[in-house]
Amino acid sequence: MSIRTSMHGQWSSRLIFILAATGSSVGLGNIWKFPYMAGQNGGGAFVLVYLICIFMIGAPLLMAETLIGRRGRQSPINSLETLAWDEGRSRSWRMVGVIGILASWLIISFYSVVAGWTLAYSVRMGTGALDGVTAAGATSIFNELIADPERLLAWHTIFMVLTVAVVSRGVRSGLEQAVRVLMPLLFMLLLFLVGYSALKGDFTQTVDFLFTVDINAITPATVLMALGHAFFTLSLGMGAIMIYGSYLPADASIPRVTIQVMLMDTLVALLAGLAIFPIVFTNDLPLTKEVGLVFQTLPVAFGQMPGGMFFGMLFFILLVFAALTSAISLLEPIVAWLVESLSLKRVHAAIMAGFSSWVLGIVMLLSFNHWAFEFDFLGQTRANGLFDMFDLVTTTFLLPVGGFATAVFVGWILSKLVVIDELGGHGVFFRVWYFLIRYAAPLAVALIFLNAIEVV
Ligand code: TRP
Repeated sequence: MSIRTSMHGQWSSRLIFILAATGSSVGLGNIWKFPYMAGQNGGGAFVLVYLICIFMIGAPLLMAETLIGRRGRQSPINSLETLAWDEGRSRSWRMVGVIGILASWLIISFYSVVAGWTLAYSVRMGTGALDGVTAAGATSIFNELIADPERLLAWHTIFMVLTVAVVSRGVRSGLEQAVRVLMPLLFMLLLFLVGYSALKGDFTQTVDFLFTVDINAITPATVLMALGHAFFTLSLGMGAIMIYGSYLPADASIPRVTIQVMLMDTLVALLAGLAIFPIVFTNDLPLTKEVGLVFQTLPVAFGQMPGGMFFGMLFFILLVFAALTSAISLLEPIVAWLVESLSLKRVHAAIMAGFSSWVLGIVMLLSFNHWAFEFDFLGQTRANGLFDMFDLVTTTFLLPVGGFATAVFVGWILSKLVVIDELGGHGVFFRVWYFLIRYAAPLAVALIFLNAIEVV
């Protein structure tokens, strides 16, 4: 086993890693992004490819990133550099970590803006403003919100301050309790919503839409979107899981913990789809609702059920927490790196990282109003200017590139002995995993990519 320890501390148990990594992966990606991407990209076709990517590429990479983190015990940049050096390879492998930092900075800036919407909706539910709201009403309320930069700025600022506050206290103390209690609550509420939607909405059409695969709907663009989203939802490709792995106790089984995280994340996304689409179909909402989908559907359900404003408030508050536990993991690699490299205090590093992301976030929120413009991406029209661009650049490019490099690193740069030492075994499971990491994952990512840009 590696003799390194992390200067930033360690999780108090294996369970805490599972909670933290689940907290990182379950977030807006599952409840806000997954449903609208499925809607946009042909339902079942997207869901199928997404699931394949999760199991064949995402899950193996989740293990690979955790492994790198635990072996290196530092921020992603420094872990990669140290491990490459140990193997007598080039130190430039640190560049993979640098790209990761760039990606997390871009992601957190738009993530915080959307998390701000969930804050706004918790308050609206609490005040009863959405009581009895119709589908048309919910749409215009959402459009009013994103048209108003001042309100968006206020919510974005509050969310960023919350994130910085937790990260500056250290991930452990801020996170453990929140995830332990709030995650299961969110999960239960989601189950309840699925039940409600199944009773009141068009559940048959939903199941049909999400799980019937029209092979013709699987286009190169759909595949790239699904791949990118698999990375996004599992927090892969930029070091979030690496940094959490660096706090993992040496005796925890990496396969066991990562598989739980992956299953939980997938389940939450599917439940969100099952809760949202019945409302879409019964109210004849267009599937192309894009970024507003969850905010234009769930309030309609809450608005009609008895006690709906209370449940709605609870739901959006829990969603804020889910977003917070994800945002923390986006900021943490940057902060850990600043602490290690510039010897900054954690608080100062958190404020620096948070402030720069906050500034970039202002560009993101202006993309919905003053700076809005349309553009085409792989045959789809995007309406939200730089917001969509940042999302696409990270999800369909930077994260897959980071994931590709991570797979190559673990499959070809790290010696097999080190890998076996960290994973503690070489049975059939190991051999399948090693094959996926060495060959299948890098090849699949490369092919999907080239296919989308029409090279192959
Ligand atoms: N996975 C989170 C979600 O689904 C978002 C997230 C957190 C993320 N950390 C990440 C995405 C790192 C990409 C990379 O909401």
